[in-house]
Amino acid sequence: MKIAILGMGSVGRGLLEMIDGKDLGLTVTGIADSKSALLDPDGIHIEEVQMAKRERGVCGDKELSAADVVERGDYDALVEVTPTDARSGEPATGFMKRAIERGKHVVTSNKGPIALHFATLQSLARKHGVAIRYEATVGGAIPVMHTLEHGLAGNRVIAVYGILNGTSNFILTRMAAEGLTYAQALLEAREMGYAEADPTYDVKGIDAAIKLVILSNTIWKRNVKLSDVNITGIDMLTNDALRLAEEQHCTIRLIAEAVPEKGILRVAPRILPRTHPLVVENTLNAITIDTDMAGEITLIGKGAGSKETASACIGDLLFIRDIHARGH
Ligand code: HSE
Repeated sequence: MKIAILGMGSVGRGLLEMIDGKDLGLTVTGIADSKSALLDPDGIHIEEVQMAKRERGVCGDKELSAADVVERGDYDALVEVTPTDARSGEPATGFMKRAIERGKHVVTSNKGPIALHFATLQSLARKHGVAIRYEATVGGAIPVMHTLEHGLAGNRVIAVYGILNGTSNFILTRMAAEGLTYAQALLEAREMGYAEADPTYDVKGIDAAIKLVILSNTIWKRNVKLSDVNITGIDMLTNDALRLAEEQHCTIRLIAEAVPEKGILRVAPRILPRTHPLVVENTLNAITIDTDMAGEITLIGKGAGSKETASACIGDLLFIRDIHARGH
């Protein structure tokens, strides 16, 4: 399977490393970062691209851009892993649309386009007989979309609850365990590289709300928007509040919650018993899916990271290849 990659940040670099190190049957024929691009229908030499990025700061030819890769590249699937723009979803959405119109599959880790334009992108993909997959947008390495679509097929999903933001979970864990202040814990989280470029997205609950929108639209197809989510972040939480919760054998977690039957769509700090399945530590994510047949299923795993996000993208790519090979 031939793929073109847009984005050489942490996710793009992780993808290249995994594709180079594993025998996955994926050939990279196009790649672009924000300043340059490279095209080779026979397959790009991955180690040369990695070295160029490390030594020159660009992956390829400055005369070429992401648009050239999308328009002229010889690929079966576009892997769109550029940073999220949660306001417009651009330029990523435009690139995805063009690839779909060219009859190419799309795999993305980009939350903006999926939260904002999911219905449009899906109907365009259907029209052109291709797939758009976005496992990496929610829960990092956790295969939540595959679980919903396949493992839980035929179930009615009643509700989803989850810890969908690793940065705020890390901050809450550090505040409770080490007595760090909110500001100290945020600084540590940023140093670890998990936080968004603008960390207010993490601590004000916006990143978790974007992921809740993506999950809700995947499950219930109701086309909810970020503005439909009732959002409270963790930025006003004090050490005293956490200490009081801990004294009752409880703790505080930022919980994203969707229960359509009760009209609930919210992200807010909640007090939970320390033994609750959603009480995970540090940057872990956890998602509980409540269903009519299977009951409650809780998935726990790494919600961010270079290799972990690459895992979700590669899972999507290999799924598309298998389905496609069977002619579906
Ligand atoms: N900033 C996000 C988080 C990264 O902390 O969960 C993964 O989407």
